[in-house]
Amino acid sequence: MAEFGESFTAHMVTSEWTVDGGWGPLELGPHAPVSVPPSMVGLHYGQVVFEGLKVYRQADGSVGIFRAQAHAARLADSARRLVIPPLPEPMFLKAVDLLTAANQDSLPRDAGSGLSLYLRPLLFASDSSLALRPARSYKFVLIAFVTEGFFADEPDPLPVWVSPVHTRAAPGGTGNVKFAGNYAPTYWAQEEARMAGCRQVVWLDAIERRWVEELGGMNIFFVRGSGSTPQVVTPPLGGTLLPGVTRDTLLNLSGRLGYEPREERVSVSQWQEECNEGTITETFACGTAAAVTPVGTVRYRDVEWNVGTGMTGPVTADLRQLLTNVQTGRVPSPEGWIRF
Ligand code: COI
Repeated sequence: MAEFGESFTAHMVTSEWTVDGGWGPLELGPHAPVSVPPSMVGLHYGQVVFEGLKVYRQADGSVGIFRAQAHAARLADSARRLVIPPLPEPMFLKAVDLLTAANQDSLPRDAGSGLSLYLRPLLFASDSSLALRPARSYKFVLIAFVTEGFFADEPDPLPVWVSPVHTRAAPGGTGNVKFAGNYAPTYWAQEEARMAGCRQVVWLDAIERRWVEELGGMNIFFVRGSGSTPQVVTPPLGGTLLPGVTRDTLLNLSGRLGYEPREERVSVSQWQEECNEGTITETFACGTAAAVTPVGTVRYRDVEWNVGTGMTGPVTADLRQLLTNVQTGRVPSPEGWIRF
């Protein structure tokens, strides 16, 4: 299988925004290069936002788009933060419907294949102008590829590394939206994690440098599994975290499995201590691309610790399974989560 996001389906959907006309009609066409001026605002000043959502083969053979409205809303929030005219929700939904209908045959017929169709909506400032102001023209592009998952070729569970130096987001910044510029600045820390023998970087808050916020390009969860009701804990959205759709989904599904979902800050020293004393028994990352990805060991400065047994824990495994079952329609989900 090709690497994540390397081999695309045959089609794409596009639209253009102009000052006079607003968003123009959606066009379905072949997946092809987009011609842009070398002086394009998006290239120089980064006025670019995106989304990632997935389409799953359902148990009955149909295809379903998972939580399309939540992704439409987040793209609109991201756009507003970057002073990009938001794509109206009906247009977003029509675009994902068009591309899904055109490319659904690239998904295997078997709902248990483990593959999904990842849709990548992108909004960018397409103006030719180097004036430092919001652009006066924008493009929407929606492309797709089939994926086995972001971590298909990585060790499972992952060894992770807590960055003592770099931060992902600061209060008042752009950490709570899916802004393209949030991602490339993480590459350096990601390289450092790899040099330390780990596969992903864990981000601490930018002010006190002690609260665990995110993991790579994903949200993070801790399981306190030693009590009679396991707690499924994730940091609260305080303006610096991305409001992950998978995060929200797992908080919901945790309750359904009889666990206690909690939004609570966990410091890096607390993470270490609670792992060592057996209170935190599991940790996992989650995102649309990564689904649920367990963490086995953590390195921070010169200390290393195991999370639980260092293997995938039972709560992580149950949540991962239920998430897949919900996404593929094998078990019912709340109204509106799956779009046919
Ligand atoms: C996602 O989980 O969909 C992401 O956006 C993460 C990354 C591939 C950018």
